[in-house]
This record gives sequence, structure tokens and C-alpha cells, in this order.
Amino acid sequence: MSNTTPFDAMFSTIIGKEYDMLQLICPAATEMSRLVGAAVNAYSSTTETLEVLELGGGTGITTLAMLSGNSHLHILSVDNEPTMQDQAKANLKDWVAKGQLSFCGDDALTALQNLADNSFDMIASAYTLHNFLHSYREQVLKEIFRVLKPNGQFINGDRYALDNIRQHTRLIQEEIGRYFKVLTPINRNDLLEQWIVHLFNDESEDHVMREGVALQQMQTAGFINISISERKAGNALITAVKP
Ligand SMILES: C[S@@+](CC[C@H](N)C(=O)[O-])C[C@H]1O[C@@H](n2cnc3c(N)ncnc32)[C@H](O)[C@@H]1O
Repeated sequence: MSNTTPFDAMFSTIIGKEYDMLQLICPAATEMSRLVGAAVNAYSSTTETLEVLELGGGTGITTLAMLSGNSHLHILSVDNEPTMQDQAKANLKDWVAKGQLSFCGDDALTALQNLADNSFDMIASAYTLHNFLHSYREQVLKEIFRVLKPNGQFINGDRYALDNIRQHTRLIQEEIGRYFKVLTPINRNDLLEQWIVHLFNDESEDHVMREGVALQQMQTAGFINISISERKAGNALITAVKP
């Protein structure tokens, strides 16, 4: 990190270039991508093409989980970090060629604000919303609600902090322990430093996405059938429907 790199832009640095390492230090994060893919596919009909908006597509792990084995989706994948999105463009060029995938380089809120009311069947995301500041996340949730079609579904696999702060702190301590266990033997102190700095950002008071607050924000935005499942340590899958 440098003085000119804001915490929120850390996916443009070494983390973005070596994002695959997340699989080693936090397997639950990549598991969330698989769960988001499964939830999207469970909702999809096999006959008509469904429009899916993906927020924070990153290197394409979640995008691939959604597209695998489903030719009835069209995904617009949004990510404002070229270091990440360029990898997705390279990894997923076959789906771009098939017309199933397109990209947008705007930030999530700007992308949503440029989309019409009731225009997407699903809005899906993994491991992205927890990076947002509270006020930005609240606006994003309102926009997600507006852009979804009636009966459309919002699916998010993400870091949802436990409401019990002591239990949550314990989980974070264990998480840091895992970073050391994986990265120290392979002499990646540079990456270790970056991920710990990033973790401080995720856990900071103006970012941390606590389960109770998140569910309340979604209810306030108008969602129904809000369900939280698949909790694995500090991660969980949330699905909700626009009535
Ligand atoms: C932890 S990665 C997750 C990527 C992918 N969904 C996955 O699970 O592997 C978070 C991604 O969100 C992107 N991101 C963060 N803030 C964003 C914003 N405000 N608008 C759009 N993308 C954002 C980052 O650039 C990064 O690629």
C-alpha cells in the first residue's frame, strides 16, 4: 500500500494481481462464489434467458460459477478495478464470444444508477458489498431494489459479521492465524501485509457489514423473503426477493 492508494482501491494492487491466493487463505470466500452460482441456477428457468447483474465480478470466479452449465443467462458484470476485471475478460472470453457475458467498468452505484427500473431478473454478488462504506451500501441496496424486476431476486454471498462482537472478534483472530499459516511458509510477507491491512479495512466501523444491520437495511429497502443461510464462520449467503 502507498500513501496514494486508498484502502478501498486495494484490489488494484498486489491483492488484485494475486487474487487466486485468497482460495488458500480463505477457502470460505471461494465457496461463497459456488453458493451464489448454485442459487442463481436454482432460480433460473431453462427456457428463457434471464438478465443477471453481477456487482464486483473481480477475476470472474463468481461469474464462472453462475455461467457454468447454464446457457440461459446473460450477465452484465460490473467491477471498477481494471486489474481485476481484465483477468475476468481473459478468463471468460468464451462466454463473451457466445454473447452471454458483458462487462461494465463503473463502480456499482454508478452502474446501477444508469440502469432502468425493473430491468434485471437477478442481481448477484460475492464478497463485494462488505468492501463498501455504510452509506454507499445503503444506496446500492436501494438501487438494487429499483433495478430488479418484480419477483426478481438478490443473491449475495459475503462477509456478514456476527452480531455478537466477542464471537466475531474470535473469528477474525482465527482468520489472521490462517493468513500466517499459509503465507509465512511460502515467504509471502508482502501479501500477508496487504491482506491484514485489507482486513482492518473490512472490519473498520465504517465498513463492517453486521448481519442484523444488513438484514434490517434490506427490509427497509423493501425486500421480502429475506433469508440468511450457509453461514461459514464470518461468511453467509443472503437471498431476498422484490415483491
Ligand atoms: C473480493 S473481490 C470479489 C470478486 C468475486 N466476486 C469473487 O468472489 O471472487 C471484490 C471485488 O469487488 C470490486 N469492487 C469493490 N468495490 C467496488 C465498487 N464500489 N464497485 C464495483 N466493484 C467494486 C473489487 O474491485 C473486487 O474485484
